[in-house]
Amino acid sequence: KLTPVIMCGGSGTRLWPLSREHYPKQFLSLSADGKSMLQNTASRLSGLNSSIQQTGPILVCNAEHRFLAAQQLQEQGIAGAKLVLEPIGRNTAPALTLAALVAEPDAVLLAMPADHVMTRPEQLHQAAETGWALAQDGAMVTFGIVADRPETGYGYIQKGPADNNGAFFIQSFAEKPSAQVAEQYLASGQYLWNSGLFMVRADQWLKAMAALQPAMLQACQQSMVQSTTDMDFIRPHAEIFGACPSDSIDYAVMEKLPVTPELGVPARVVPLDAGWSDLGAWDALWDVLPKDAHGNTGSGETLAVDTRNSLLFSESRLIATVGLENVVIVETADAVLVADKRRTQDVKKVVAELKAQK
Ligand code: GDD
Ligand code: MG
Repeated sequence: KLTPVIMCGGSGTRLWPLSREHYPKQFLSLSADGKSMLQNTASRLSGLNSSIQQTGPILVCNAEHRFLAAQQLQEQGIAGAKLVLEPIGRNTAPALTLAALVAEPDAVLLAMPADHVMTRPEQLHQAAETGWALAQDGAMVTFGIVADRPETGYGYIQKGPADNNGAFFIQSFAEKPSAQVAEQYLASGQYLWNSGLFMVRADQWLKAMAALQPAMLQACQQSMVQSTTDMDFIRPHAEIFGACPSDSIDYAVMEKLPVTPELGVPARVVPLDAGWSDLGAWDALWDVLPKDAHGNTGSGETLAVDTRNSLLFSESRLIATVGLENVVIVETADAVLVADKRRTQDVKKVVAELKAQK
């Protein structure tokens, strides 16, 4: 069976001031359909080939967001979900490991980040079908997006030979390269962006962790042995999980996997052309939202005079602009962000500075 694993414990600092510690971006509705990114993620597999039986999803999120997550799933009509509650985020490798310990050992996990937009979900269904067969055979499967700019916020997958199943072997995997290296990768034409979706059988994931990250696996296992359960909430032991090393799937496993024989089955990449984007920062949001004739978009009360290619988000007060281009203005009750649209990756510096001042 296929078990979707929704990883939604990130903090989304680059979307400050809308995304906050108590209400991070995956729970926000930023699109026109009124659904949150988590809700869109949870619905994304409906329409998947019915010969692939699905279980309810496993959600891994911060304990603080349990009711928010549970309520959003319920609103979306998602049944049979299990929620694994982290006392503190230890990044995605431990998150997926907790899910693998909760799932049936032979379940094929589809790890899904909760901060993506996909305009053509049927393409994901097709790619997932290809991945399903490979993952059942024990492979670690990634999904690759054709790169169109030297983005430094993504992982890069170097394609090896085709494998006759519509997938490619993975030559190498490089997480978040420098701008210079990203330029080289793009120019070589050999690399796909890592979409952040992974498909792997639960027992195979645990095997990879045992070989590559034994300390992490042990902390996760111990924290689950001493976990408590109430309703659909599963709580790993707080101190033990808190002491788990923190790292992402990409650095902890993927960068090492293609060159290690641990799984006995080589890792693959399945191409994915699903109108995918990671809504990491405000400029990405501007990209995906419908814009007016001047390239402006946003929500709330706004008045843009001679303003172009800008994103104006107002929660409560009118935003009026005159003679601006490529700006992001986000107005909330207690904070206003005004930024150059080409610099929105650096919004996380504001959040870091605010935290340091606390
Ligand atoms: N449960 C849990 N716990 N979830 C987490 C944690 C955690 O500690 N940290 C992050 N997440 C969730 C986020 O909420 C998000 O949905 C997902 O895991 C991915 O984390 P990001 O922090 O957004 O990763 P990224 O965007 O920098 O990089 C990943 O995604 C890129 C594509 O979007 C990598 O896989 C890259 O290789 C990839 O290109
Ligand atoms: Mg992301």
